[in-house]
Formats: sequence, structure tokens, C-alpha cells
Amino acid sequence: MKVLDYNELAVPGVRQLSPYTPGKPIDELEREYGVTDSIKLASNENPLGTSPRALEAARAALADVWLYPDANGHDLKCALAQRHGVGADSITLGNGSNDVLVFLAKTFLGPSLKSLFSQYCFAVYPIATQMVGAEAVIAPALPVDHPAMPLGHDLRTIYERVDADTRIVWIANPNNPTGTWLDGDRVQDFLASLPGHVICVVDEAYSEYARSDTLGDASQWLERFPNLVVTRTFSKAYGLAGLRVGYALSNPGIADLLNRVRPAFNVNSVAMAAARAALDDREFIVRSREMNATGLSQLQQGLAELGAVTVPSAANFVLARFDRAGSELNEALLRRGVIVRPVANYGLDNYLRITVGTEPQNRRLLSALADILAG
Ligand SMILES: Cc1ncc(COP(=O)(O)O)c(C=O)c1O
Repeated sequence: MKVLDYNELAVPGVRQLSPYTPGKPIDELEREYGVTDSIKLASNENPLGTSPRALEAARAALADVWLYPDANGHDLKCALAQRHGVGADSITLGNGSNDVLVFLAKTFLGPSLKSLFSQYCFAVYPIATQMVGAEAVIAPALPVDHPAMPLGHDLRTIYERVDADTRIVWIANPNNPTGTWLDGDRVQDFLASLPGHVICVVDEAYSEYARSDTLGDASQWLERFPNLVVTRTFSKAYGLAGLRVGYALSNPGIADLLNRVRPAFNVNSVAMAAARAALDDREFIVRSREMNATGLSQLQQGLAELGAVTVPSAANFVLARFDRAGSELNEALLRRGVIVRPVANYGLDNYLRITVGTEPQNRRLLSALADILAG
């Protein structure tokens, strides 16, 4: 038989696809570099770990793993519905919020349709767009010397690029990898200006860390904007990144479509039980938020003392610009057992994205950087 060219067989969007670049796992670093006692400040995980109540619920749920999970996610959906003041029929559960972002692309995008996002937006939006063969339209971000929000989303340039073929506009608030944010009032004005054929996804993966008086809570705007989809995750402040749970909130008409493309058992039973319990552990979220605020100031101040320029952040990470390549600094940090995220894949060559860790972790990162920059 003739040897097949698998790439030729693949659908056009997949042929050119570059997979998402994740943060390096600690085990991999220690194997490759022969270092020990490493720290990871690369994937915006919660340095406090997981809510003890969530862990207890996960352990209890292990007894039933021989059963398929509840495909409708009834218990978790009811708890989420109550939390956000929406009906359970407004919710779509995902294996992480990444999953629901892909459902959105599969449902509303395809060849000849357009997906619109800001320069420096979260990498999954262009990936999901390309995967389904839609056209990616990139709106220039605010300039690097913008006095308030350098590299942030510019709602004006986004709005100018909406046309008859646009089906999804993606807005991360706060955004990853920049940490920048948009005022809730401005997002609502933007939503009000959008034509009815455009779905606007407001990705609130970091909302538990952000100041709600400034950013608002987009789940409260769903009744006013039938074309709004809000995505949330248990991976960040809730500390459940490894279990993979996220969700979308939307008009029930949109949720119905998203649930048609959702694989029936996409969220496992242990993950759903843990997420359900995590939701009730407000004390853990408050502690996580407080620790993040202190750690973010520690990093911003320490990085400034090292001559780096930081971008304002409403999340649990900070983007910092150096006068040398991020890849070079990253390599030197890896050799010292510190994992951060180089962001050249976003077109940010001289930058590093650093997750806020515990006080000693932040100190270790700053001292490793000081050592490297002095060399
Ligand atoms: C803005 C944003 N949205 C969504 C996600 C996806 O997270 P998860 O799939 O773990 O819910 C991330 C993860 O880094 C993110 O930064």
C-alpha cells in the first residue's frame, strides 16, 4: 500500500495547527536538568493548593468511580445556578473551561465565518478558531506605552473589525498572558453595541482574583445580553486545575446548542464532586485572594527593583518586560529550578509571565532573577 501523507488527509485547519504550549511540569524539569526542589510559577495555579473541603469530597467520590458520571451534571449545575442566579439550563459544563471554548468554536464557527479577538489574547482562541477552519481576525491591542493598560484589549479596534461574517468575539477579563482588564461598564457598552449575529464570549477564568467593583460580574448581564457567553473555571483560584472543570453561562438557547456538541461524560464524577464542594468553601477563596494581592505587590515591587517593567495585572500572574530575551532568562531560571512562562509565542519576546506564588517562592524567583541579571 502507498504510504499515506497524514497531513494531506487532515482537514485544512488542523494541518497548520500548532498545539497549545503548556507550562513545564516540575517532574520534567527535574528529569531534564537534574535539579531538585524546583518551583513552578508558570501555569497560574493556586500556590495554596486545593480547598480541603474539595479534597475530602474528591476522596469520597472515588468510591463510585466504577459508575459513569451523571452526564447532566445535575448537582454541580444546581449549585452553579444558585451561585449565579441563573437556571440550570443556562449552564454547559466543560473538562476545564478550555473544553467549552472549543464547544463554542464548533457550534458557531466554521469555514467562511470569522472569529475576532485582541492581539495578545489567550492562545486557545486562535487555536479553536483554526481547528474549525474559521478566519481569525486580530484587533491591535493598546500600545505598549499606553498610560493605563499597556497591551490591553482595545474595545474600539475590536468593534471596528466586526462585520457580517463575524460570529464570535472573545474577550478575556482579565486577560492572559497580559493580566490587563476592562471596566465592567465599558464591556457592557460594547455588548450593547454588537449586532445580534455576533456571540460575545467573556472569559472570566481569573475573576475570583479580580476586583469585582471594577470588572463587574458578567454572569449578571446575561438577561440583558442574549448573545453573551461567560466562561469560568475551577482551575485557578479554586485550585482544581488537575481535575479539569470549567463551565459556560449563557442564554438557554445557546446552552442547548453547546450541550449538543459536548461529549456526554466530559466531566468526571470526582471532578464534579470536588468542584461542588469547592464552591462552598468561601474561606479558601478569600485566603487565596488575599495571598495573591500580597504576592502580586511583592513581585511587582521586586521586579521593578530589578529594572523590569511590569504590565498592570488583575489576575494571579504578572507580565514583565526585560532588556533581554525572555527565552534566555527562562533557560537560566530553569537551571536554577524555577519554572516561569516565556511568551515569545504571543509575540512578546522580551517578556516573562510569572505566576504569583507563596512569599518564599516569590522571593526565590526574584533572587534567581537578580543573580542572572547581574551575570
Ligand atoms: C484566560 C483563560 N481562559 C481559559 C483558560 C483555561 O483554563 P482551564 O481549561 O484550566 O479551565 C485559561 C488557562 O490558563 C486562561 O488563562
